[in-house]
Amino acid sequence: MSVRYVEDKKTFILQTRHCTYQMKISEYDYLLHLYYGERIEDEDLGYLIRPQDRGFSPNPNEAGNDRTFSLDVFPQEFSSDGCSDYRVSSIEVKNGDGSYAFMGKVSGYNIYPGKYRLEGLPSLFATENDTVDTLEIWLRDASTKVTVILCYSVFEEKDIITRAVKVFNGNEKTMYLNRIMSTTIDFMESAFDFVHFDGRHTMERNLTREPISYGVQSIGSTRGASSHQHNPFVILCDHDANEEYGNCYGFSLVYSGNFRCEVEKDQFDQTRIQFGINPKGFSYQLKPNEKFIAPEVVLAYSSQGFTKLSHLYHNVYRENLCRSPRAKEIRPIVINSWEATYFNFDDTKLLNIAREAVDMGVDLFVLDDGWFGKRDDDSSGLGDWNVNTSKLKKGLKGLSDEINQLGLKFGLWIEPEMVSEDSNLYRAHPDWCLSIPKRPATRGRFQLVLDLSRKDVCDYLIKEINQVLDSANIEYIKWDMNRCITEAWSHVVEPDKQGEIYHRYVLGLYYILDHIVLGHPDILFDGCAGGGGRYDPGMLYYHPQIWCSDNTDAVNRLKIQYGTSFVYPISTIESHVSVCPNHQTGRTVSMKTRGVVAMNGIFGFELDSTKMSREEKELCREQSEFYRKHYWLIANGDYYRLTNPFENKEYTAWQHVSKDKTESLASLVLTDKESNAPQLYLKLKGLNDSDFYRIQGDDRIYSGKALMTAGIPVPNLAQYESVQYYLTKVKEA
Ligand code: GLA
Repeated sequence: MSVRYVEDKKTFILQTRHCTYQMKISEYDYLLHLYYGERIEDEDLGYLIRPQDRGFSPNPNEAGNDRTFSLDVFPQEFSSDGCSDYRVSSIEVKNGDGSYAFMGKVSGYNIYPGKYRLEGLPSLFATENDTVDTLEIWLRDASTKVTVILCYSVFEEKDIITRAVKVFNGNEKTMYLNRIMSTTIDFMESAFDFVHFDGRHTMERNLTREPISYGVQSIGSTRGASSHQHNPFVILCDHDANEEYGNCYGFSLVYSGNFRCEVEKDQFDQTRIQFGINPKGFSYQLKPNEKFIAPEVVLAYSSQGFTKLSHLYHNVYRENLCRSPRAKEIRPIVINSWEATYFNFDDTKLLNIAREAVDMGVDLFVLDDGWFGKRDDDSSGLGDWNVNTSKLKKGLKGLSDEINQLGLKFGLWIEPEMVSEDSNLYRAHPDWCLSIPKRPATRGRFQLVLDLSRKDVCDYLIKEINQVLDSANIEYIKWDMNRCITEAWSHVVEPDKQGEIYHRYVLGLYYILDHIVLGHPDILFDGCAGGGGRYDPGMLYYHPQIWCSDNTDAVNRLKIQYGTSFVYPISTIESHVSVCPNHQTGRTVSMKTRGVVAMNGIFGFELDSTKMSREEKELCREQSEFYRKHYWLIANGDYYRLTNPFENKEYTAWQHVSKDKTESLASLVLTDKESNAPQLYLKLKGLNDSDFYRIQGDDRIYSGKALMTAGIPVPNLAQYESVQYYLTKVKEA
């Protein structure tokens, strides 16, 4: 079993194929963290903790005169609060007696096969091919009778450990949970870099790397969604870690709302990392016997750098997170109407775009924003999910039937979580949006956010959206969310429960997704929030692919897709060829390069096909065919970042390698051109040294070793030109 309790040593041991995670019940029954890292067989790593007299660090009451036992010094598995641990805290409570204190001691544990469940929240699931075991440890505060349950599930073969926390109020008085971190890990060292992925709308997930230093470094979101600005994924790694080398610890939060990750280097050069719901604006009331469930963090450890870490996440997210049956099938090549028409269309225009797209190898036409209510721009109509018959004379059914007759599937854009003030829904139910009485509501993109903490609002949306989905032959839904939350106040909740709204919104969102997505297993759902503003594992549980960014510029996309690939599988990264000059940057890049970049993800188009030349459409058709042929290699193969676009200004390259290493696709885009430039050599990765490969279009045979160590001389390319190498293994040289 991958989980054990060693009775005589009082250690809990979690073991995957390559890593070990160890904890120990200390004297006086506190739970200490001993180790997380490369697999070690020792059953008790308690010797790593060397008690010393640490003057100003207080000692628990039971320790008496023993000044060497301090929770302020020892590595904790879940820190106490208000009782001597002064580092960032796993929990903050206001107890029924007004005290701000929690000090948990181990009061029991349970080990069982299978994965724990988190009611109401998305989390990884075990498939029949996985060996998963679970450990639950109870930490009880004897004074307040508040109990915290730490949950761990171990995916042994996949080298993944998941963690979550539940809090139970066993007191006879109401308490408030003001902070609850799903994961705390105390490392006894501090020689780490903190890697995180920050950005902004249309420029998401830029890699940032900095050494940790004394005090607290923190990233997070308070925008109601996981956000464009920071992604709920971070890495702690050795200072010299790179793609192939060094210890890397990944932390990925399965949650789509406000989050925070904090890294603290303490006075003794130890490191505490915490990840969970953002405590800002969070205060959760727990009446006697009520329970709170905090979201899951997925932990991965690699002793061989970032590439290995990414492979661990890609594999587990593909197989144990994206649960849609559509996720397991080859994805359709989509043409989306947004950049082609924006709000300005009618059915004739749409049908013309679809008709021309057939020749480009497209499978599915997506009608984006503007098809419903009064919606000629973004100032009105959200909430009225009835078809606008002045634009679509035969309704959705008529349009989808005609699209189907062209041989294409039909998809639709919706933004269910929002309401425009100029809409029938808002006029009928002004109290259904998040807003504070007597305080003018803040607008974002002219719209307001519906109060998904309310069950009546959620049930209404489920009914409305289900009706839309059932009204035509809709096989694809792009689910959008285009503003951040402000004034998170619900009109039906008592004042002392308003601190729950941000979280209850996310629970409401998961509730409607559960009903709508599960009820339509045949529909492929695609996530979006102004592009990549809610690109997180919580959404991937429902939507197996996400519109990676509203930025379709192929050169900017190199950076955006690079950052995204650190944790999210290529099969989740939606990427489209759009028109040039590009609508976001004004840049012109060849059609070929736009296609090469877009096929480093879920390939598709976002342009007016009626305005393209015959040659351009022919090239698109060839690229669609090439992509479709190599879909499984791209979407399910092992992914290698060959360069870092933030460091290598000259070119960006990446590579997909099949699991059995018999085929591979490498792509390179020249991003900066100098006259009379030195010869470039592209060094591949992930092949077998001793195997031989042929590159399509080249008669030579190369050994894997030559391709990886000596490389391939890159042809002389103009700026923004690209080249692709498709390799297959051959029997012998
Ligand atoms: C967001 C999306 C776009 C498009 C528009 C429609 O910005 O990211 O792709 O769907 O909304 O309003």
